[in-house]
Amino acid sequence: MIGLCSGRPVSITGLGCYAPKRVLSNDELSELVDTSDEWIQTRTGIKERRIAAPEEATSDLCFFAAEAALADAALKSSEIDLVIVATITADMLFPSTAAILTSRLGAENAAAYDLSAGCTGFVYALTQGYAAIAAGLAERVLVVGADTLSRVVDWSDRATCVLFGDGAGAVVLEEVKKGGFQVFELGADGAGGMELFMPAGGSRRPASAETVASSEHYVKMNGREVYKFATRVLPSSAQAVLEASGRNIADIDLYVPHQANLRIIEHAAKKLGIEKERVFVNVDRYGNTSSASIPLALCEARAEGRLKDGTLVLMTGMGSGLTWGSSVITWTEGRGR
Ligand code: ACO
Repeated sequence: MIGLCSGRPVSITGLGCYAPKRVLSNDELSELVDTSDEWIQTRTGIKERRIAAPEEATSDLCFFAAEAALADAALKSSEIDLVIVATITADMLFPSTAAILTSRLGAENAAAYDLSAGCTGFVYALTQGYAAIAAGLAERVLVVGADTLSRVVDWSDRATCVLFGDGAGAVVLEEVKKGGFQVFELGADGAGGMELFMPAGGSRRPASAETVASSEHYVKMNGREVYKFATRVLPSSAQAVLEASGRNIADIDLYVPHQANLRIIEHAAKKLGIEKERVFVNVDRYGNTSSASIPLALCEARAEGRLKDGTLVLMTGMGSGLTWGSSVITWTEGRGR
């Protein structure tokens, strides 16, 4: 689906993120599996990633990011109408991580749900939050992208364990005077779903001694197919939103793609014709943090002074499903008063 944001102008008015303290380097990984810092850096651009502490679950990561976003927006948690958590590593199958988060935050006036769209989850959730405000159903929405992939990665599988990390990023969405979201495009190709999945633990294959013994509660990935998918949809989805909004890549001040792999990002940037100075990259320090990747990147981009009032930002996510999603936003500082 694709649509221009023609209703009330809605933007990000608060931004926060959280990364666990523990840093896991490539050299440490090479003590666990048959790999090397050289292989990982050459194939992925990743140097290190963060790993949640044993007592930290996804809702804990969400909490710290959400607190920072609320403080940035100068809002109390009780003023939030809706909390959406994009994640594929919920604390448990139910209740939702979003509901757990509302309780911890004291967001007693908010509806809450989780959204599962893999690494595209944050862009999907932004679309939902935007739509709720634009339709007049909510005034203030908290969108969190968070994943603790370290809990579902097979630490004996060198093809996947080197890629992922843990983190969370949160944004507050509100109506603004002008600017904000311009366009969204979301897509899904369910036929490719088994290229990146977790076989057991759901209703098709409930957890059992057998599923545990056969390592079916870990991420399974066909790396080459996911690579082909990613290098195709990152540019095509970006091109779709640019075209729909009557802009071209030269208008974009900052491109924030999903941080899966530096090679994928460079391929997409080349195809789009955008030079590296306008592309945000932090995959080297966090690996692929799934739903947290784009908000974590936005957080760091702003800290580096790369997001100012009026900055035109293009974001594109892609991930399990297989899914993808893009948006163009005219960045706003505050509510534009
Ligand atoms: N260290 C050393 N060697 C390795 C490692 C490793 N960590 N992993 C694989 N290899 C070996 C393979 O066994 C293979 O050896 P062989 O030739 O003897 O069989 C060789 O390296 C090449 O393997 P390929 O899979 O062909 O390597 P490729 O260049 O394709 O890179 C990679 C693999 C990095 C996984 C790449 O395919 C990729 O980035 N895919 C996309 C992954 C991705 O982004 N997934 C997340 C999507 S978003 C989401 O929703 C979570």
